[in-house]
Amino acid sequence: MTAPILRRLSDLRALTTKWHGNGETIGVVPTMGALHQGHLSLAEAAKAGTDRVIVTVFVNPKQFNNPDDLANYPRTENEDAQKLAPYGVDAIYVPDPEEIYPQGFATTVSVAGLTDVMEGEFRPGHFDGVATVVAKLFLQTQADRAYFGEKDYQQLMIVRRMARDLDIPIEVIGCPTVREPSGLAMSSRNLLLSPEGLNIAANKHRIMQGVVQSLKAGAAFETVAARAESDLLAAGFTQVEYIQLRCADTLDPLTHATRPARLFAAAWADGVRLIDNIPV
Ligand code: PAF
Repeated sequence: MTAPILRRLSDLRALTTKWHGNGETIGVVPTMGALHQGHLSLAEAAKAGTDRVIVTVFVNPKQFNNPDDLANYPRTENEDAQKLAPYGVDAIYVPDPEEIYPQGFATTVSVAGLTDVMEGEFRPGHFDGVATVVAKLFLQTQADRAYFGEKDYQQLMIVRRMARDLDIPIEVIGCPTVREPSGLAMSSRNLLLSPEGLNIAANKHRIMQGVVQSLKAGAAFETVAARAESDLLAAGFTQVEYIQLRCADTLDPLTHATRPARLFAAAWADGVRLIDNIPV
């Protein structure tokens, strides 16, 4: 059975107040829809970790710095509800835009530091949009736990910092990236890739793994990063925005894999911007 779709905050609040009144815990999985196995794994983790699960679906205009990207973002509400049916989700919150950004909305949540690099550098304003909408979704759903994929590792760190700084009583849980058999990280944007684009994109994980092997063997990051960039271009990627090695806890840049680290990359294939990261 598909879960009820709620579009009004008052309807959502009626449910969450009842659930908390019964002593039940609530998990939230914030999404922008176009659900794939990665999102479904988050719903599954939420179901295992909390009594009630809300999946939110809202394509947040404030986090798109490119109007074409917003216009092209896939919207598949009916299919999303069908895909969630086997996971025992209790409600799907698809807020009317004015429930999130009412007339006169004038507040921005901005997390300093962690947002200056990588996605923050290449998508100015993106993380202000993310932090603002996620703060609203945390407060609107009154969830006890929130589930985010490590595919967007920088986002996960920022959201966790934001919740801590604002004393929002929620535990932010990171879940492993789900991958296609080719290694390609699952992403709603993969729907925009042609079959040829998918073949090109599939090379990214293999090339990133090669970097990790070299780093583990003691190589300097600068040397292997230059090779990985030319490998990505040779595989058909049209532009590499960044390949970076950073501390897994602070996101500080590293020259060698001397402490728990993550390798991050953003590159364009077939007109689609694809990001990924793996532990080192
Ligand atoms: O990761 C996403 O899909 C979005 O950035 C999120 C967290 C749902 C906020 O709009």
